[in-house]
Order: sequence, then C-alpha cells, then structure tokens
Amino acid sequence: MSRKIEISFSRSLKPASGTGLVVLLATEEGGPGEGAASIDPANHVERAMRIAGFKGKAAATLDIVAPADSAADRILLAGVGNPQNMTEHDWTRLGGQICGKFAKATKVTIHLSLAGTEIGGDEAANVAMGILLRAYRFDRYKTKANDGEDGDGAQTVKVTIVTPTAAAAKKAFESVEAVVGGVTLARDLVNEPANMLGPLEFAAKARELAKLGVKVEILTEKEMGKLGMGSLLGVAQGSPRGARLVVMRWNGGKPKDKPVAFVGKGVTFDTGGNSMKTASGMEDMKGDMGGAAAVTGLMHVLAVRKAKANAVGIIGLVENAVDGHSQRPGDIVTSMSGQTIEVLNTDAEGRLVLADALWYCADRFQPKFMVNLATLTGAIIVALGQHQAGLFSNNDELAERLVAAGAATHERLWRMPLGPEYDKLIDSRNADMKNIGGRHGGAIIAAQFLQRFVKDNTPWAHLDIAGTALGAPATEINHSWGTGFGVRLLDRLVRDHYEA
Ligand code: BES
Ligand code: ZN
Ligand code: ZN
Repeated sequence: MSRKIEISFSRSLKPASGTGLVVLLATEEGGPGEGAASIDPANHVERAMRIAGFKGKAAATLDIVAPADSAADRILLAGVGNPQNMTEHDWTRLGGQICGKFAKATKVTIHLSLAGTEIGGDEAANVAMGILLRAYRFDRYKTKANDGEDGDGAQTVKVTIVTPTAAAAKKAFESVEAVVGGVTLARDLVNEPANMLGPLEFAAKARELAKLGVKVEILTEKEMGKLGMGSLLGVAQGSPRGARLVVMRWNGGKPKDKPVAFVGKGVTFDTGGNSMKTASGMEDMKGDMGGAAAVTGLMHVLAVRKAKANAVGIIGLVENAVDGHSQRPGDIVTSMSGQTIEVLNTDAEGRLVLADALWYCADRFQPKFMVNLATLTGAIIVALGQHQAGLFSNNDELAERLVAAGAATHERLWRMPLGPEYDKLIDSRNADMKNIGGRHGGAIIAAQFLQRFVKDNTPWAHLDIAGTALGAPATEINHSWGTGFGVRLLDRLVRDHYEA
C-alpha cells in the first residue's frame, strides 16, 4: 500500500507528539528559525548544529533525536542557505527533500518561518507540492508491504505546515493539488506495463476525464480509416490490440476563443516492429506513450483547477507489434495530409503516428499554437542526456515561452535546430518522403519529419522527451521510473498564455 500524505496548513505551532517529526528551517546566517524555542527549551538543537558543523547551507539537512523534554521525537533541520535566493523550484525541492526524511514518522510538523524573511503562501504550497511528488510510488502490483526505504511502513502521514500565511497557502494549495493529480496520472500511465495498458485501456483512462468536465471523443480504426490516417494505422496494423485517437477538450475560456493544442505520442509498446529492437532494455518501451501521458495529465490539471483556458489534447494510441500483419520496411503509406511516406524503418514509428495526429489537430481546430510531446528518438538522449528535453519549433515566441515555463518548473528544455539542409535528408526516391534520414542528427531528422505535417502559419513546437519521461535519474521530487515530465511545464505554459 502506498503512503497517504495528508497536508494541512496552520498559523500556530502545535508540536506533534507520539511519532512526531518537527522540521525547522536553518539559514546560513545562523541558528534555526523561529519556533525552535518551544520544542527545544534547552537549546539542544544549537548544540547539535555546532557538533555536526551544520551551517544551514542550501540542501543540507541535520536529523537529530529530540531531547527527552521535547514534545517531538525527532527534529530535522533543513538548510535553505540564503532564503532570498530561493527560487520557486527550490521550495518544491525543499519539500521533496523533507519528505525523503520522513522515515517512520506519522505526524510531521514543518515550521515554515525564518526570522526576518517572509515566506509566502505560494512558497508554502510549493513545499507541499514537493512532498506529494516525492511521496509518489507505483506499487499497485506489490502484494507485500515494503517496510524499508523512505519510511514505507507508515500508512498515513499527517503533515502540518506551520506558516503565518496559512490562508494564502491553503488557497495556493488548491492548484497544487490539481497539478499533483495530473503528474500522478501521467506517472501511473507510464509505469503501467503494456499487458495492462494497451491503446484501448489507455483510451478508457482518458475517457474518465469526462467526469471532470473534459469532453472526450474516441476515434476507432474505422473512423481513422475514413479520415485517411494511413500513416498512424500502418503502425497499428501488426497489433491485435487496436488503435485509438483520443480528442480531449477543456473549454474554460471564452466560447469563441481558438484553443491551444497539445498532441502526444502514445505507443503503448514499441517492439520496433519488423525492424525489431534488441532484447536489452526493450522493457522500457512500455513507456513509449510518455507524450500521451503528459497530455492526458495536463487535461486533468486544467479541468481540476477549472482553468480559464480553451485547450485541446489529442493522443494517438497504438501498439507497434510484430506479426504477420505488421508493416514491412519499404511499405509506402498515405497520410491524412495526402503526403506519401516510405517506411524504411518500422521502429521510427512515433513520427508516423504524430504525422496524422498533428494534421488532424490543426485541420480541425486551427489552434493558436500546437505543442507535441513524444518519446521520439534515442538520439535526443545521446545529445542532451536525461536532464533536459529537446525543443524544436517553427516559432521563436512559442519556443521562448516554453523555455521560460521549463525554467520555472525545472522541466527544462533545450532548443535544437531545424533547417532545409536537414529536411532534405528525408526526401525519398519512391514517395514524398521516407521516415528515416542518415546516421547523424537523428533527433533533428525526426523533428523535420513532423514539420512536414505542420503548416507554416501554425505556431508549433515538438518536445522530444525520450530522455526525460522515463528512467531519468531520481531527483528530490521524483523517485518514480515514469517521471510525468511535461505536465507541470505545459500547465505553466497555459497559465502564462492566458494570464499574460
Ligand atoms: N521509442 C523510440 C525512441 C526511444 C528510445 C524512446 C529510448 C525512449 C527511450 C523510437 O520509436 C525509436 O525507436 N526511434 C529510433 C529511430 C530510428 C529507427 C531512426 C531510435 O531512436 O533509434
Ligand atoms: Zn520505435
Ligand atoms: Zn517509439
């Protein structure tokens, strides 16, 4: 069973008793912040700090057993360095770091105050977000309790964040809960194995958003066939598990206002098809729907926080399987746009799915801008590692907004080039284009391919999240294999777009 974290905000410090953990902030300026006195009458904390050489540096912690006359069992000092330098993400990260020290505590009191520094409601809510994101665990298939790591023993942890801005924090926490819900949904979808989550099961999950007021339409193979989506359907044809295109709409903005649009690659498993992948690491390809998961998670956030925005989320759901019906290298398919594609490598399937999903999206909705997310290439991992996603765009303003949203949420993006020299590499002898280029610049070639399905007058960006959506190194706010990358980033982009 996963731990349940219950968070509340309070103006006054009521030290926890029993299995209580009290968290105090410490700055480089000196001793622990206000509040120490009531739980530490004999100045035990100061002595411990001195002995341990703890200086309140950012990200440093000191975990001590509380003295016998204290109401608390443990006292955790969390360093914040110079609090004036703390960014939004630093507060979130602080929450994650504190959560990582919960151990067996069932009652946690976080004293969020510092002498001489006002900590606002947004900061307090960000600490709460960090705690919740860090506490996430994918353990639905574990039948035995895990008593070890990170204090899994506790079933419910009651966390009280003590701050003079409790009322503002409570308000800010409403949208934090929406965001955490969206990230959790995205992580769950990515972590779920492919035998449990194929195209139909994913579509059913997306359909559940209808309960929140999202309009959900699900197109079947037959309907996609009528629309001429030969590119997407070619990928799906080797799998007995069907294909779906899910259209989710959140209309919280002005009725006539054109929507912003998000499109996700949802390959529920990528064997590579006839151009089959090697065995090593193939299990990771259950996460080849990280783009679709992020888009679905975003729609959840927008609906729960009742965003004043019109947003469309479209996900192309297929399984890239191998059997007698699978497409072959050399096959030529016709996309919804009318352009023909020579499929020289059946493992370059994400772009084939997105070609039709992007075309459909722009054709039907004429969005203000369109952002697609996809675990598209191994090449982007070679280029950027797993700490930043690749950003490709035909529009500088959109690219800048994305980079800014990425910096603020710490879901960072690095802009990559596009250009005619790269585009040329996918010209084909036998069709309008081929789905692979040469050996070099693989992530760029994939982006060029997508761009052929986007008209110049649609501001568009492609985020290659192959490195960041799955298997990225653990951070203070994520210990899950499926990271949920993109949900917080896109929510911020939407927010900035509608509130600017
Ligand atoms: N799903 C993969 C890309 C991927 C790799 C995602 C690692 C997550 C982690 C994609 O469909 C793929 O196989 N791309 C090929 C393209 C190549 C055949 C041109 C690749 O990157 O090798
Ligand atoms: Zn592939
Ligand atoms: Zn793939």
